[in-house]
Amino acid sequence: MGGDSLSSHAHVIGWGKYLPQRVLKNGELSELVDTSDEWIRTRTGIRERHLVEDGETTADMAVQAARQALEVAHFNPTQVELIIVATVTPDHLFPSTACLVQDMLGATRAAAFDLSAGCTGFIYGLSVAANMLLSGAYRSALVIGAETLSSITDWTDRATCVLFGDGAGAVVLQSGENEGGVLASSLGSDGSGGDLLWLPAGGSRIPTSQRTLDERLHFIQMKGREVFRFAVKVMHDATCEVLEKAGHALGDLTLLIPHQANQRIIEAAARSLDLSPEMVYSNVEWYGNTSAASIPIALSEAAEKGRIQTGDLVVCVGFGAGLTWGAAAIRWTRPQPMLAPLRRRIVRRLYYSLARIRSRFRRLIRWLSAFGIKDGLNGGRRSKE
Ligand code: COA
Repeated sequence: MGGDSLSSHAHVIGWGKYLPQRVLKNGELSELVDTSDEWIRTRTGIRERHLVEDGETTADMAVQAARQALEVAHFNPTQVELIIVATVTPDHLFPSTACLVQDMLGATRAAAFDLSAGCTGFIYGLSVAANMLLSGAYRSALVIGAETLSSITDWTDRATCVLFGDGAGAVVLQSGENEGGVLASSLGSDGSGGDLLWLPAGGSRIPTSQRTLDERLHFIQMKGREVFRFAVKVMHDATCEVLEKAGHALGDLTLLIPHQANQRIIEAAARSLDLSPEMVYSNVEWYGNTSAASIPIALSEAAEKGRIQTGDLVVCVGFGAGLTWGAAAIRWTRPQPMLAPLRRRIVRRLYYSLARIRSRFRRLIRWLSAFGIKDGLNGGRRSKE
């Protein structure tokens, strides 16, 4: 934890993304359900999406994206004080995916928790982390959006299975006195629309049973047209609101990074904001909708490609299940990163291998001490007898 003194700014100093190797093209989907490449491309703009291999999980992808972000930031995992993973597809309901990531990274000084706000999760996470840095409670944070949507996609439902993909994106935030960083955020919710996009079963209201499995209630269900209308409106409103909060006008904006759900939604939002296509980042064509991962993946890709330069004003805006929506305005302060010296990169790689050993060692110690305590209790009982 930091020094508890108010800090003035929360800067994005590192970014990274991870897409699993396996690619599923539209043509392959048309072998699974009654659809076509042409329908998917014209209605969504999506050509292909990445899917995890068997055994690859949300935490695995989150760690890959986080490592890249730490590399760009020239940060060691032990410097991270807070880890937030935004996801609707955690490895388990508990422990949190953030704790798994903390362990795999060897981020020994970090607090860690998951955050559920649908596809807006990363914006919520960024806002929470930035404000925790501004409060002075923490000096650095890793904010990750990671999803294995393929695990909750109904591969027999053509209305949804064509939309989603897997992946992860991450940023490192650091507090600092210099101007810029996350200037403002604006978050919203409307739970009355919860059933427009949801996963009905598996929680406390509809626990898992044979019936829920038979009725396929563990898969995403969506009312597409309603979500579409909601999305276009809130993208416009949240962008305007966050710019106003940051003391800026639309004319000051350099790049809009919208949630990558559908190219038609992105274009409609751009039209309503009167932004030219060059000012709106899109990669939905190649990755589909990766929910909470979509904005950090797009942000990282835009930064990697040099589409964001020092001094630029970037707005990230998203919407999703909940219903939720949100936007964050960021004044970019990090110049294009230099690759860390080879020696440092090797040391960091070694550290990650050690983190794995450290984790096993801690389990062993816990196992041994459990034995010790049990022996002690037995011994105590015996001595009383
Ligand atoms: N292939 C072929 N036909 C399909 C299809 C598919 N994959 N999915 C739906 N259809 C059919 C429908 O059955 C319907 O047929 P009908 O007219 O005979 O009933 C027709 O296409 C039109 O369906 P509709 O739902 O009106 O299409 P649409 O233009 O609204 O596009 C979505 C559907 C899902 C692409 C669009 O509504 C959307 O993107 N909504 C937002 C979803 C979203 O972003 N969700 C995530 C939020 S984070």
